[in-house]
Amino acid sequence: MKHLLTMEGVDRATLDSLLDDADEFYEVMHRPIPKVPALRGKTVATMFFEPSTRTKLSFERAAKALSADTLSFSPGTSSLKKGESLKDTVLTVKAMGADLMVVRHKSTGAAWRVAEWADLPVVNGGDGAHQHPTQALLDALTLRQHFGSLDGLRIAIVGDIRHSRVARSDVWAFTTLGAEVTLVAPPTLLPPDLSGWPVTASTDFDDVLTEVDAVYVLRVQAERGGASVFPSVAEYRQRFGMTDARFARLKPDTIVMHPGPMIRGIEIDGGVADDPRCKVLEQVTNGVAVRMAVLFQLLGGSRDE
Ligand code: NCD
Repeated sequence: MKHLLTMEGVDRATLDSLLDDADEFYEVMHRPIPKVPALRGKTVATMFFEPSTRTKLSFERAAKALSADTLSFSPGTSSLKKGESLKDTVLTVKAMGADLMVVRHKSTGAAWRVAEWADLPVVNGGDGAHQHPTQALLDALTLRQHFGSLDGLRIAIVGDIRHSRVARSDVWAFTTLGAEVTLVAPPTLLPPDLSGWPVTASTDFDDVLTEVDAVYVLRVQAERGGASVFPSVAEYRQRFGMTDARFARLKPDTIVMHPGPMIRGIEIDGGVADDPRCKVLEQVTNGVAVRMAVLFQLLGGSRDE
């Protein structure tokens, strides 16, 4: 693997190997000194042109736990403000000695362009509504830890699928690992064309609710126009929210997941978010472990260390 840009087409053996390494790094993270020397001397640059809390911090945490150095680019205080191009920005960071770049950008395909220009390993940290592969890996790890395997699991992904790079990555990881995925959303928040997606779709959350092992809740992507296509927040919550009332109707062993950031009171009620069966913080912890695995595999760290 030279880059990690998309989950589409990534085979089961590759996913298993990344998740197996992530399990080992999860163990490293829980040692008294949570650090190994595997990537000593390497430099990981985080280039986030869109806001991020979890993804950016967890890549930096992962790099440091592998003893790599980090370069953290912040667009708001950078020379982008003076008109410098994305390409020149990337070449500048490469010239300072970056060995790998993690890129988040509002434009679909940005990470592929950066990979061409920089000629370095690139990880896509989210490109528009297109792909977010490390999110899918951390979600798969969370499901595998909880259930032992994804084989035969039934998973509902609920909410703004249309604008969600998380959904576009999760469907490939989950189904390649053997799960069945149902997308649940109002028609206006489903992608216009689902041909080629390995999923079924429903517009009736209550119909799907009692059938599934995991409910994966998505935020409405207001910044991509997601909130303008339904009549009101109250109506959205009533039909598609993971409310306390719906939570009470789930099978007793069904879990709830969310990529964060959660907007309590819209797509998820506070009582659900704070319940032990909501795995959102486990997902965050697992995000560090899978990003350690990705950095380790892309930068060719040696297992002996
Ligand atoms: C998501 C993203 O940015 O794609 N967050 C994340 O990376 N955990 C989802 C979102 O913003 O709703």
